[in-house]
Amino acid sequence: MLFCTKLATMDSIKLHDKHFTPFISAQEIDNAVKKVAQDIETDLKGEQPLFIGILNGSFMFVADFVRHYKDNCEVSFVKLSSYQGTSSTGKIKELVGLQENIEGRTVVILEDIIDTGNTLKEIYQIFKDKKVKTLKIATLFFKPEVFKKDLKIDYIGLSIPNKFIVGYGLDYDGLGRNLSDIYQLKTPN
Ligand code: IMP
Ligand code: MG
Repeated sequence: MLFCTKLATMDSIKLHDKHFTPFISAQEIDNAVKKVAQDIETDLKGEQPLFIGILNGSFMFVADFVRHYKDNCEVSFVKLSSYQGTSSTGKIKELVGLQENIEGRTVVILEDIIDTGNTLKEIYQIFKDKKVKTLKIATLFFKPEVFKKDLKIDYIGLSIPNKFIVGYGLDYDGLGRNLSDIYQLKTPN
């Protein structure tokens, strides 16, 4: 796991009503992406994994990740969408877009960020009965101060403080995904 240092040289930006300050450079992000890709490549030697990116936030991470992953692999994307279950079960998440038969496969989930872990819990729930050979979880960003769940995360790119971030696929109300660097929400102190 790598830790990030503050960026002071770039300009602040405004998205909708909020201001964001530079936080993690594109170079630092790339170092973290490369490290995760190489660690997974080492661990999965001899396998032909299926990487599944969780949209929308993971699109940039996945694109760069697979360029650093040199062994044979397959890549797919899914969306987690909410729908109303029965009155007793309430809101349920389902996977949209998975075409592949993943039974018996080595599957690695690629997430942009794990915050509370609620999404991760849904992912584990959804994959529980899919009969995969192995399920691994990789996330580019992780907020350890917020994550209180007893769920395994196999690979973490960068651990960050509990601040809202944008850039490199991550958005604030739709904006900011196209930024190459990561910015964090400006707070009064
Ligand atoms: P969770 O709280 O771990 O379930 O994270 C849910 C989702 O919230 C993530 O997949 C992101 O899409 C989004 N998210 C969490 N933290 C941030 C952030 O700091 N910036 C932008 N999106 C975030
Ligand atoms: Mg996400």
